[in-house]
Amino acid sequence: MEFIDLKSQQKRIRKDIDARMAKVLDHGQYILGPEINELEEKLAKFVGVKHCISLSNGTDALLLPLMAAGIGCGDEVITTPFTFFATGEMISLAGAQPVFVDIDPNTYNINAALIEKAITSKTKAIMPVSLYGQCPDLDAINEIANKHKLLVIEDGAQSFGAEYKGKKSCGLSHVASTSFFPSKPLGGYGDSGACFTNDDALAKSMKELRVHGQEKRYYHTRIGINGRMDTLQAAILLSKLEIFPEEVELRKKWGQLYKEMLGPSFKTQALLPNSTSVYAQFTIEVDDRENFIKRMNEFGVPTAVHYPIPLHLQPVYQNLGLKKGSFPHSERSGERVVSLPMHPYLTEEIIEKVVSTVKRCHVE
Ligand SMILES: Cc1ncc(COP(=O)(O)O)c(C=O)c1O
Repeated sequence: MEFIDLKSQQKRIRKDIDARMAKVLDHGQYILGPEINELEEKLAKFVGVKHCISLSNGTDALLLPLMAAGIGCGDEVITTPFTFFATGEMISLAGAQPVFVDIDPNTYNINAALIEKAITSKTKAIMPVSLYGQCPDLDAINEIANKHKLLVIEDGAQSFGAEYKGKKSCGLSHVASTSFFPSKPLGGYGDSGACFTNDDALAKSMKELRVHGQEKRYYHTRIGINGRMDTLQAAILLSKLEIFPEEVELRKKWGQLYKEMLGPSFKTQALLPNSTSVYAQFTIEVDDRENFIKRMNEFGVPTAVHYPIPLHLQPVYQNLGLKKGSFPHSERSGERVVSLPMHPYLTEEIIEKVVSTVKRCHVE
């Protein structure tokens, strides 16, 4: 059994991918070739925003909006400690200070009700994360941001394709980032990512920043990065995007079936009203995780932990002086969560096997 089955998907679209890659090899425009524009247009349309800026990975996609907005030294950015390290890391790399706010233990996303207390005169932005494939309460977060004149940067690395009140993840805040890492809901065959915004000036800045801060060839108006997506990667993503809406529906279907089969005695991510999840991860909570994972392995069911150590307890952030107990919900979740196999090519039989194994390993 695979934790994420990328082979079945490839079998479905291999011919199309081969043809699209051959086209790139024929025209030879490996950097910023025509597939890049085509993909950016299609992704922007899918999300429902004006601009998509394709990038080298989801990590650069977090750094670039911060750089474009001039957020850096002396500034603070509010985020969740219960996320993949890149979220906090890019705030720090930009030169700013991450300020953590605890999660809602039911959705695992930042608790919007706690954000205002963390705002200071140095706060410049809020970077909420759409963990496991579901957006946080972005209406509430945008309202706070508007009141305090802060930028909202959604880290939508795990939620591409999810909906919040009828609108798509990455189209719900001033600017948003996503990742096309192979295991993500829309994943390529290598690293890539993208930013999304309706703000023309921010889009222009991010486009320049991804090519060394060039306004025109060899004319550098700012310090940037080499953050472009490869044309070959864009060709692969164009192929995958064609089947993506169908895959999102399958993810929703399997997530729902998991919940029904597991029953109310297992805690799973709660969905907000009028909200969908693309289940980048399908995560449950267990008491004795180490033993649970060991037993699941013995029965041939792979698992993964997203994420065991919240950011404020990472060695590199010890200088923030945030001891154990600072964010109890993030810490407790970090100790208890475990993710089960999730991808569009699951079947009822596979889910039945996973769930019966979960019940067996949890009880015994
Ligand atoms: C929440 C979150 N943010 C950022 C990233 C970084 O994306 P990438 O691996 O494409 O750099 C990831 C990827 O794992 C992620 O899960």
